[in-house]
Amino acid sequence: MFSDRVLSGMRPTGGLHLGHYHGVLKNWVVLQQEYECLFFVADWHALTTHYDCPEIIEKNVWDMVVDWLAAGVDPSQATLFIQSKVPAHAELYTLLSMMTPLGWLERVPTYKDQQEKLTEKDLSTYGFLGYPLLQSADILIYRANRVPVGEDQAPHLEFTREISRRFNHIYGKEPGFEEKAQLAIKKLGSKKSKLYSELRNSYQEQGDEGALAAAKSLLDEQQNLSMGDFERLFGYLEGGGKMILSEPETMLTAASRMPGLDGQKMSKSYNNTISLREDADSVRKKIRTMPTDPARVRRTDPGDPAKCPVWQFHVVYSDDKTRAWVQEGCKTASIGCLECKQPMIDAVISEQEPMHARAKMYEEDPTLVRNIIADGCERANALAEETMRDVRAAMGLGYP
Ligand code: TRP
Ligand code: SF4
Repeated sequence: MFSDRVLSGMRPTGGLHLGHYHGVLKNWVVLQQEYECLFFVADWHALTTHYDCPEIIEKNVWDMVVDWLAAGVDPSQATLFIQSKVPAHAELYTLLSMMTPLGWLERVPTYKDQQEKLTEKDLSTYGFLGYPLLQSADILIYRANRVPVGEDQAPHLEFTREISRRFNHIYGKEPGFEEKAQLAIKKLGSKKSKLYSELRNSYQEQGDEGALAAAKSLLDEQQNLSMGDFERLFGYLEGGGKMILSEPETMLTAASRMPGLDGQKMSKSYNNTISLREDADSVRKKIRTMPTDPARVRRTDPGDPAKCPVWQFHVVYSDDKTRAWVQEGCKTASIGCLECKQPMIDAVISEQEPMHARAKMYEEDPTLVRNIIADGCERANALAEETMRDVRAAMGLGYP
């Protein structure tokens, strides 16, 4: 009954580049065709680390949305919105904070790691400690069950699952839960209620995960159960109460293999990027001036692609035939570096052509982007409100 829903967010802390395209956006474009998708600008998350430079956030929010659209994220398939325009995220964050043990937050590995890494910033703030909990609110408020993120985010997802479990455990017990669950079982009809009870017993007595999965899919197939009964039966399986919040799965995005212009990972902080909508002349210039194998001082010196950042580009963009041409030509000095770079220039420019084309109308008329976001925020607010009603009621705030 909870259908698959994908949610992901991105912090507007800088312009997007080809690393984001190959690492994240290409994946979003595929997911939007398969699932209900929600993609949002995590502007509050950006403030946790950039609280002293709000101008960076303001500038990057809209550029980032245009980059998404340019990459092929389609507002008629996915819902695009801005976190701070759905204030219920902050409400859920506050409510969850009441039951979040401080130690859980302090133990999230990114907390200490980032503090040590970003030494130029003072990150001993309440907001930064709360980063993972704000992320949990983002996810749980939509009952999103699939969250595509990079590996660095896996601890935040694990944390979110723990928060969801704790919430359901504390607040999921409605008065008379046991009786209501029993009644709901009867409503399944004699055959299915017997099957449900057997599966529940196997899970609870023998820890049989297969039985748990089978019982869940049995429930998923029931069309005439009310939402309330569905949630009760779901929660009853694991022994707890009603399942108010769901537990998201991590969809690990394969790390981007997109190298930067200098052969390190492409990243703004290494100053080695090609931006998503870089103009063609600048792409040409950047690739032409890319460093190559330092052994090739003269055109007649042979080189080794393994020591050359341009080869990394060939790995991403070229077919086998071109790669063989590079290997052979480089090692025997039968091609020059500029010659070797030309197919890369062509590949990047032609990859970016459709992006420039899609971006054009949004660049010319920014109100189109504002409208897409306004629509998305409206939809997101409505979805968030569904969960918030249950959460408020469960926490004793159900009064009108
Ligand atoms: N923390 C994520 C990142 O840095 C961004 C993010 C915020 C997010 N809220 C989210 C990602 C919810 C997925 C789901 O990449
Ligand atoms: Fe690099 Fe190509 Fe020059 Fe070899 S020929 S050093 S792979 S740019």
